[in-house]
Amino acid sequence: MSDLAVSSALEFRWINGQCFEFKFNNGKTLITDPWYNYPGRLGKRCPPGFTTDDLEGGDYLFVNHGHGDHTANIQDVYDRFHSTVICHSSTAMEIAKCFHISLTDIYPVDSEGTYYFDGFTLQTYHGTHHKIKDDYEGTLKRFGGEEFPGSLDLNAMGGIFNTNFVLTTDQGFRLAFIGGNDDGMLERLRGLNKPNLIIRNKMAGSNVKTNVAEDFAEWFSKVDTQLLVPMHYETWLTEDPEFAEKVFRDMNRILEEKGCVGRVAPMERGRWYSLNLSITSIR
Ligand SMILES: [Fe+2]
Repeated sequence: MSDLAVSSALEFRWINGQCFEFKFNNGKTLITDPWYNYPGRLGKRCPPGFTTDDLEGGDYLFVNHGHGDHTANIQDVYDRFHSTVICHSSTAMEIAKCFHISLTDIYPVDSEGTYYFDGFTLQTYHGTHHKIKDDYEGTLKRFGGEEFPGSLDLNAMGGIFNTNFVLTTDQGFRLAFIGGNDDGMLERLRGLNKPNLIIRNKMAGSNVKTNVAEDFAEWFSKVDTQLLVPMHYETWLTEDPEFAEKVFRDMNRILEEKGCVGRVAPMERGRWYSLNLSITSIR
């Protein structure tokens, strides 16, 4: 087999949680949900040794929801890159209060909107968080304490909703970024709205360890997209890496058995990958 031509869609890497670094063909960069280096409980699930200095760019910073494991390193990224911080409009003021960010660098978005940036377009969608029992005050127990980033309000709002998106590059490659539950994404991604690649959180919280591969493969087979990059399974990597490996191996086996062309690509944290469109001679 040899490539007749290879064209780059983008370069990207998974760092931790829902934190990805994307580099587009025009050189602009996007970081999602920055959490890679923080003291205390949050630090236990970070990739060892990764710091803000290891990031290659941060023109844009996107926040999916307000929990500390999605906001922990906002200040570090902003201080280094003076990023445009893209967040839902209802969290914009709380983010302004929690972090030292020039107000004109905060870019509020709403659900079901389309936003044009240098190197990519974002379509935003309402999302819901995986089930957690906490009420407003209960958020203190789960996320309280000096070590935790953001305010009580920002963390409480994190349980109320997520903001998902479909990103289209200048060359037309489309990727979906989905935290939490499906919340209608199966319907939204049908037909002409279909992305080439889906980056998705697990189907449930990290404590759920039954039928994980079956349920995730079933959902992905219904979307019928080419590639799935799973995210936010750092708890498994920390506590039970064999389980994570088995889940994604089983998912690919199930997809093959179902006759789906879609495949799961679990990334190594911190490693850069190139996403390409290629024409390859086969016979
Ligand atoms: Fe969360």
